[in-house]
Amino acid sequence: MKMLKKEYGICNKPSLNSARKRILNDSKIIKFEFPEKLIGIGNGKNYLVKTYGCQGNLADSEKISGLLEKLGFTPCESEATADLVIFNTCAIRENAENRIYGELGRIKKIKKVKPDMIIGICGCMMQEESTITMIQKKYPHVDLIFGTHNITKLPEYIEHTLNNRKVIDVLSVEGDIYEDVPVIRDHPYKAWVNIMYGCDEFCTYCIVPYTRGRERSRMPEDIIKEVKELAENGYKEVTLLGQNVNAYGKDLGINYGFADLLTDLNKIKIDRIRFTTSHPRDFDDATIDAMALGGNIMPHLHLPVQSGNDEVLKRMNRKYTSGEYIEKMKKLKERVLGISITTDIIVAFPGETEEQFQDTIKLVKEIEYEGAYTFIYSPREGTPAAKYPNPLTEEEKKQRLLTLNEVINEYTNKGHKRFENEIVEVLVDGKSKSSEEMYTGYTKHNMLVNFEGTDDLIGTIVKVKVLKSFTWHLLGEIVK
Ligand code: SAH
Ligand code: SF4
Ligand code: F3S
Repeated sequence: MKMLKKEYGICNKPSLNSARKRILNDSKIIKFEFPEKLIGIGNGKNYLVKTYGCQGNLADSEKISGLLEKLGFTPCESEATADLVIFNTCAIRENAENRIYGELGRIKKIKKVKPDMIIGICGCMMQEESTITMIQKKYPHVDLIFGTHNITKLPEYIEHTLNNRKVIDVLSVEGDIYEDVPVIRDHPYKAWVNIMYGCDEFCTYCIVPYTRGRERSRMPEDIIKEVKELAENGYKEVTLLGQNVNAYGKDLGINYGFADLLTDLNKIKIDRIRFTTSHPRDFDDATIDAMALGGNIMPHLHLPVQSGNDEVLKRMNRKYTSGEYIEKMKKLKERVLGISITTDIIVAFPGETEEQFQDTIKLVKEIEYEGAYTFIYSPREGTPAAKYPNPLTEEEKKQRLLTLNEVINEYTNKGHKRFENEIVEVLVDGKSKSSEEMYTGYTKHNMLVNFEGTDDLIGTIVKVKVLKSFTWHLLGEIVK
């Protein structure tokens, strides 16, 4: 897999010869103008967007839905009734990519029966040149390919595909930030709000800086306006999104950072503000101060540590030591009493010794994480770590993941147990998947609670007494 170096343009036939060069200026912030003449071209047609990967992709898919519905398309639940299916892909690990190839193989059969169905694919995988080449070769039933930097061009792309022209348009360089892109949000009470795009960190294992481009922050006033509007429209919870939210504002040159943004958003009458993802190096005292104000800033921090060993952290280019990380979390726990801390950890990073892995276990015990996403390192071609030798066998890698998960579960359990017999506030999401009578929602500390409820509670915040705790959830009853 190679990172995208060339640019693709719209073409009648998918041919690499149609590549055209673009010269992009520094990113500007531009008000999005919808091409009005295209309104209605999707009338009478159904669409389905299938999203993989992180919240950034979920937020992008909500914009894709917004653009499609403005064209006249109607959402539908299944490929069988869809006239347009778009896969929004993720490239973070090999298994994420393999899933997409499986999906493309599967949908080929549906297209045989429904030849007019348009198949589109976008997202992080499309920023890899070899992926585009492979899709053209192996999956010729794909009609539309676009990348992460040009979602706002979707109306034009759809016009082309409806006229039986294939479209491949992927930009290798990030472009401008568009404000006021139409959006159809998946959830009526919880919203994603991008505060920045891209990532400048270049952790040696990670593909994101290549697929999402350089860090670009939105203007504070645009974010504040969006959150105010969400609050006015009945939204209860907003999650601020960025690959490294603590770097927010650095590129704006206006001496306004993430802590300032949190402090300003805390003044808005909305129940809950969350944010993801923080980076330990940039997570600073000012952010701790802003979190300590409480208010609508939730007592939960997701702070990926990746490893507990300094040598490994250095080779990952994480730019902090385990000691510095622990110090920051100590300070945070002192300032935000009872805060819940969760993390991401990669095991079997190239060259990780058993001793170094044990340092990660030690750190997990020290921080007492109340949840973690854990991964076996997956080489991403084009990233520096892909060239590092990794002598571990698959069995050894899996064993490390198992060992780590056991320790994490112990602390997740402990974290949940501390709420037994306590009264917690729950934003009710809806019916639980496991049982008809049970309802489900999240606490301020981002813990899942199941309880008996009624439909009218959905979207409200209720008080629940926790009766019992489990590894993955709490069980409670509503306090009248
Ligand atoms: N920007 C966020 C999230 C990045 S992706 C952050 O910096 O934390 C989410 C997680 O995927 C990362 O935290 C990391 O733990 C994991 N990840 C990224 N690249 C990976 C790779 N090549 N192999 C395995 N896990 C990876
Ligand atoms: Fe990837 Fe590191 Fe950026 Fe997170 S901070 S997106 S892990 S490069
Ligand atoms: Fe995946 Fe792209 Fe997000 S690689 S994790 S969808 S930024």
